[in-house]
Amino acid sequence: MAVLLDGDALAATWRDEIKRDAARLTQAGITPGLATILVGGDEASAHYVSRKHQDCAETGILSRDIRLPETVRQDELLGHVRELNAEPTLHGVLVQLPLPAHIDAASIQLAVAPEKDVDGLHPLNLGALVLGQRRLRPCTPSAILGLLQAYRVPLAGRRVAVIGRGLLVGRTLAIMLADPAIDAIPTLLHRGAPDLAAVTRESDAVIAAAGVPDLVRADMLKPGACAVGVGITYRNGEMISDIADDVASVAGFLTPRHGSVGPLTRAMLLRNVIEAAGAYSAATRGAGPTA
Ligand code: GUN
Repeated sequence: MAVLLDGDALAATWRDEIKRDAARLTQAGITPGLATILVGGDEASAHYVSRKHQDCAETGILSRDIRLPETVRQDELLGHVRELNAEPTLHGVLVQLPLPAHIDAASIQLAVAPEKDVDGLHPLNLGALVLGQRRLRPCTPSAILGLLQAYRVPLAGRRVAVIGRGLLVGRTLAIMLADPAIDAIPTLLHRGAPDLAAVTRESDAVIAAAGVPDLVRADMLKPGACAVGVGITYRNGEMISDIADDVASVAGFLTPRHGSVGPLTRAMLLRNVIEAAGAYSAATRGAGPTA
């Protein structure tokens, strides 16, 4: 019987810590603040952004919700980002992805001030990640590692198959898993990999972030291995994970189909806002050592 990796419960404990940290910073005169920019009317993205603002309200983080039309020009969007960069009451700036095709997402990410980049996707922060330096880190990979560590899933010296090479999850997660502090042996795959099942069958953990419904099935998993479903697809209103339901009969650890990595990713975003606000607080106090 697989141990269920309960991200919902863990996220609640993380939010309690965040609430305490936000109150401590507010008492010190810096209320943490997050701004989000959403371009266009995609329903799922609008829902995700609204949840982020609810989370902020519940944890004592100020937030600003900017919504722009699908037709916004690149220079207008850049203008909004620069305005938020310059706003001292905001410590995090997040531009919700995906952006419309006419927008160059990489240059938008580059325009976000690195110290406010709570997505951890600015090249400076990604470079620091590759170098093993501690700066703002991408939320979903941090959430997954936090979940695995909370449940003491063994990672050091273990083979981990990461399926999906997107920057938001797979590519950055593989780098983090390989860090000597974690010491796992990751293999970065994608849906087109010819030997996908051969690699997953040899792995002690499989993390699926490809957005392909039921991509990992029971016959692709080593008995007792850990299976983490990150990618989700909606089909006729039903949410389908990259990890098929029959994996439960083989896995040692398993994320439930609903509410595991998502709530932790949102909590990790708040953690990054707290970290950014804390750094701002230290810098504006003269950057002396803090207690
Ligand atoms: N769209 C889906 N997930 C994310 C995320 O973590 N950050 C941003 N900016 N956009 C997203």
